[in-house]
This record gives sequence, C-alpha cells and structure tokens, in this order.
Amino acid sequence: MTVIPVGQSWHALEALARQLKEKVEEVFCPHCMKYVKPDIRLIPTFLDSILIEKLCPHCRTVLSTEYTQVRLPDRKPHLIKGGTYIAFEGIDGSGKTYYSKWLVEELKRRDYDVIYVKEPWVDAIKEFLYKHRIDPDAEVYIFAADRIILQTEEILPALEQNKIVVSDRSIFSSIAYQSARGVSEAFIWGVNRSIKVPEFVIILDVPVDVALKRIEGIGRAMTRFEDPEFLERVRRKFLEIAERYANISRFVVVDNSRPEEVVKKEILDHVLRYLEEKEKMAK
Ligand SMILES: Nc1ncnc2c1ncn2[C@@H]1O[C@H](COP(=O)(O)OP(=O)(O)O)[C@@H](O)[C@H]1O
Ligand SMILES: [Mg+2]
Repeated sequence: MTVIPVGQSWHALEALARQLKEKVEEVFCPHCMKYVKPDIRLIPTFLDSILIEKLCPHCRTVLSTEYTQVRLPDRKPHLIKGGTYIAFEGIDGSGKTYYSKWLVEELKRRDYDVIYVKEPWVDAIKEFLYKHRIDPDAEVYIFAADRIILQTEEILPALEQNKIVVSDRSIFSSIAYQSARGVSEAFIWGVNRSIKVPEFVIILDVPVDVALKRIEGIGRAMTRFEDPEFLERVRRKFLEIAERYANISRFVVVDNSRPEEVVKKEILDHVLRYLEEKEKMAK
C-alpha cells in the first residue's frame, strides 16, 4: 500500500505516476496498430484507492485501467478517546441553537467542563455560502473544509482535555442536507473521511410548517436552505439517519412540537443518563 504523506498528496501522486511510467511495459494500441509505451494517468477516488489509466501517447485511447490502494492523509481523530462529543441536529428552525446553548448552561451548573460550537464555524466560509450559489457536491467540500478547521482548532483539543463539546450541527447535517440535494451518501462520507463523528446525537424533530413559523417569529431572514419541500426531504433524511447510523452514534429523536419545558426535561434526562452510563463504563 502506498502512503501519501499529509500536505504532499499532489506531489506524491506525480511521483507515483513517474515511478509507474519508468516500469511500464509496452502495450498494443489497436488504433495506432503498434506497440506503444503508454502514458500513465492517476485519478484519485474516494475510499483509499487510485485509478491507474494507461493511455496511448499518440491517440490518447485508454488501453487499460486498474485500481491501486493508497492511504490518504489521516488526522486519526478516532484516536482521541477522552471527552464527550454531543451534537444537536434537525432542520432549520427545529430548535438546535436554542437547546444547545441552554444545555451548555445546564451542564455548567452541574460543574461539567463544557464548550459550545456551531457549524458552519468559519466566518469567511459562512459569508461565502450566503454569497454564492454552488453545486451540492461543491457544498459538500465547503462544509467539510469548515468542519475540519472547527475540529482541528476547537473540538479535538477540547476532547483531549476531557471536556464535553456541545455542537450545533455536525457531519450528519452534511449527510441530510447534501443528500437531500441529490449527492450520494458514499461521496459525503468519502469527503468527510477524517472527520470525528459525534457520539451522542439529539435530533430535534418538528413539522416543517412549525419550524418555518418559528423562524418567521424571530424575524430571521430565510436562506436558500429554507424551502418547505426541501426541508421536508431533509426532515425525513434525519429520521432515516437515526436508524441507519445507529452503529456509529447513539441517536435520540426528540419531538420539539411540544412545549419547551417538556422538551428540556427530556433532553436533560437523555444527556445526564448518557454521561452517567459513560462514567460507569470508564470505571
Ligand atoms: N418547543 C418550542 N416551542 C416554541 N418555540 C420554540 C420551541 N423550541 C424552539 N423554539 C423557538 O424556535 C425558534 C427557532 O429555534 P432555533 O434554536 O433558532 O432553531 P435552529 O437553530 O434549529 O434553526 C427560536 O425562537 C426558539 O426559541
Ligand atoms: Mg440555529
């Protein structure tokens, strides 16, 4: 397996191409009707492989294709074992910001060491997303870049110091929103391959009309993500996620069409029970 060093991926690919080119044997090109020493083209794919194409240097016909395994840069966030990474998820107006900030205060009152973070994180990236309409696959890259910065600068250091991180959105927002815009989940996971996944996820579920009325109520400007039909698809995606990814995170779906006090009690019960369970397991 070839290891592509962090930050040198492109140079490493070129070096690999040169190396392969030196060793390559002549192949028959049926169009030029002669044996040729093929050119090598490397195409990175997701999930640890590179496509190697051998091309006729004269007519550019692809004479053969094969895959080789590589190891792409890996920040190994899964090696960080301390702390607790909790995320709130749900459609726009579902109550994420409200309850995540509230939960941070409740946990602080109970002497937990806790920080609040919010995706998207980097101001320049948020501005960019409001200014430009971009393809959904490009959106996947932009959100992943933002998430990598947030994790590297804030989340991973806090977990290393054994803190609780309460995050307003996470990788699962990318899965829900960008897949609702037609991007395959495999692609989204591929781009987010070195992202740490939250261990406990609270999905706030509300009907789209209720969420939109609440956004209106606070006079917040609608973004392009807040189209009712689209949000309906995203809401369903979140409910699917809670089932489908139960192997990688603990999910609870909380019905936030009920009064705040009822919802708060339910959230706090879930979180405190989870933290207690974790403490017990650590002993
Ligand atoms: N159960 C609830 N009942 C009434 N209003 C609520 C409830 N939960 C949240 N809200 C209100 O809905 C609005 C949108 O919540 P917010 O946290 O901004 O959503 P999000 O961050 O998910 O977009 C806020 O004004 C919040 O106070
Ligand atoms: Mg919010």
